Amino acid sequence: MNSGKSQSTNNMTVLWIIGAFLALIIGGVIIAQATPLLFPPQGSAESLQVDDLFKFMLAIGGAIFLLVQGAIVYSVIRFRAKPGDLSDGANIHGNATLELVWTAIPAVIVLVLTVYSYQVWVSTREIKPNEQTVYGRGARFVWSFSYDVPASSVPSDVEVDKLPPNIQDAITNDSSFPITSRELHTFVGQPIKMVLDTSDTLHAFWIPAMRMKQDLISGRTTEIRFTPIQAGEFPVVCAELCGGGHGDMRASIIVHADETEYLSWFSDQVNLVVYPPDDPVLRGEQVLASGQYPCSGCHTLTALSWAGITGPNLNGIGDRAATVRSAATGETPEEYIHRSLYHPAEYLVPGFGALMPQFQPDAGQPNFMPVDDNKAIVAYLCTQTATGESACDLSNLDAIIAAGD
Ligand code: CUA
Repeated sequence: MNSGKSQSTNNMTVLWIIGAFLALIIGGVIIAQATPLLFPPQGSAESLQVDDLFKFMLAIGGAIFLLVQGAIVYSVIRFRAKPGDLSDGANIHGNATLELVWTAIPAVIVLVLTVYSYQVWVSTREIKPNEQTVYGRGARFVWSFSYDVPASSVPSDVEVDKLPPNIQDAITNDSSFPITSRELHTFVGQPIKMVLDTSDTLHAFWIPAMRMKQDLISGRTTEIRFTPIQAGEFPVVCAELCGGGHGDMRASIIVHADETEYLSWFSDQVNLVVYPPDDPVLRGEQVLASGQYPCSGCHTLTALSWAGITGPNLNGIGDRAATVRSAATGETPEEYIHRSLYHPAEYLVPGFGALMPQFQPDAGQPNFMPVDDNKAIVAYLCTQTATGESACDLSNLDAIIAAGD
């Protein structure tokens, strides 16, 4: 009789363990399936693999969470002290079987996760045969993206001698030249290789919708790859604390539906550069709007929709250059703006620190800004006045440049 009773108790225990085990697995799977509902859209081929890996880990983590919480709740109810019972609990020594089980199961889980995540890592970093290279640059506190334009794609009717020297060189040597955009453009199905660098401190390039994140490291380039699978506009975020404007360091990736739509955007950008406006004011506006220089990260300039706050506000800079700043520096407004770009540390506006990159006029130097770009930017900023009239006499500018550094 006795042995029959303990046999049925054992059977019940086994059934309970199997039932609890199934409940844990089902609970883990429910947690894994429900949580990704909060995720950003799956914008890239890689995002599918990354999400599958994440859900797999979440199912395991969810089951362990339910096991631990379930054991706590069960113990609180089952083993609570009876009223008036102040004695110590039973003294339990080691249990070799239990210790083996709780060592072996996590070891197997870690091993499986290692193999699985290594496969995903290798697969998402694979070099694709038809990938397009896009250069991404981080600067406090703005992103810019550059594309190589082969000289052969420049229309034959452009006036070559009006173009910037680097484009003239590219046309002469049949090589390529860069164009810059503040947004990252591509199209569905085009594998992208991002080559990333930073002009100042550490940043991290993160496109949540692509499930891609990569640090930008001073003094070297880093790479990351992805293939968009969904058309639309998605945020690009900086994920590394890089200074006071870190939270505003955002951009967009625009995934066009097909190559035709993308090429139409691309040729518009090329045309802006190879048919530069004659008016230096318009050219300056175009250079600033392209994001080629990271000014928008720190300065506010409503005319260009800039909203940075770590540097001086540039609204009305033409008027101030001609009055307050001229009085402070003894320089003409055009000289003040021109030299502020090449020697920012000597022209600190009270209340602002020396954060601005020092632009330099010679190719090959860090933060290269050709003199032509500097002149165009000066021409444009001089028109930021209450009346819209230029505050400067630009005919002085060449003499200023010839005389000084
Ligand atoms: Cu760049 Cu944070």
